[in-house]
Amino acid sequence: MNTAEFTKKYYIDRRGSHSRKWDEQHLKFNRIDLLPLWVADMDFMPPRCIQEAICNYVKATPLGYTMTNPNYLKAVISWYKRHHNCTIVSDWLTSAPNVITAIMWCIAAFTKTNDAIAVLSPVYGAFDSSTSDAKRQIIAVPMTRNEDNRYAVDYEAFEAAIIKHDVKLFIHCNPHNPVGHVWTAEEMDRLFSICQQHKVLIISDEIHQDLITGLTPFTSALTVSKGAYTDRLIAMSSLSKSFNIAS
Ligand SMILES: Cc1ncc(COP(=O)(O)O)c(C=O)c1O
Repeated sequence: MNTAEFTKKYYIDRRGSHSRKWDEQHLKFNRIDLLPLWVADMDFMPPRCIQEAICNYVKATPLGYTMTNPNYLKAVISWYKRHHNCTIVSDWLTSAPNVITAIMWCIAAFTKTNDAIAVLSPVYGAFDSSTSDAKRQIIAVPMTRNEDNRYAVDYEAFEAAIIKHDVKLFIHCNPHNPVGHVWTAEEMDRLFSICQQHKVLIISDEIHQDLITGLTPFTSALTVSKGAYTDRLIAMSSLSKSFNIAS
């Protein structure tokens, strides 16, 4: 199926459906004619199997308070294994309303007011706002842009920034939003060993793990160096990007 055929079959005009990116853009930009590329959701219906599963659940189940369904944990473990060859232990898992909430919880739990939190910039803006809202300092370490337009890390600058600011937490983004870089195990090993050396906790935001278009496969931070960093690492993901179900 080519792009035109795909679009004809699946495109849906979300304007007027309380879509944040379409129906709120006048609040952000005071105009309504922009292509809203600042929000990572799509103008397609979710997969049919998800629609059906939600409908079946709602028809069959009382909507009272629930505990975590063990099948949910099993599904996450199975997905990571089958798609990313990553073995997860059930006890490692917990859930949050969404990734940014989980990041905010970790910032609150593992850092103190004014602590420094490092990111590789440019990076997804909510890392910055979650940090500043919590009254922590954001330390943006710029990535270098190569001649072929690829981004890379200046490892010396990364380590120097960690030492200078006494960084407590590094928020890693893999694949990296917005530059699209899919981090290799070797790159992460270098980054994480610097973090380990300086006792920096790592959050790996892996929310875009299933949307890989290039040749580099996704590697979860949990598998880097045979799991050597799992004691100082919190990996986060969500169904929202993979299946276009952010709401
Ligand atoms: C890298 C990254 N992390 C997190 C989010 C937001 O995730 P959530 O809606 O689960 O908070 C986005 C949304 O675009 C994102 O690009």
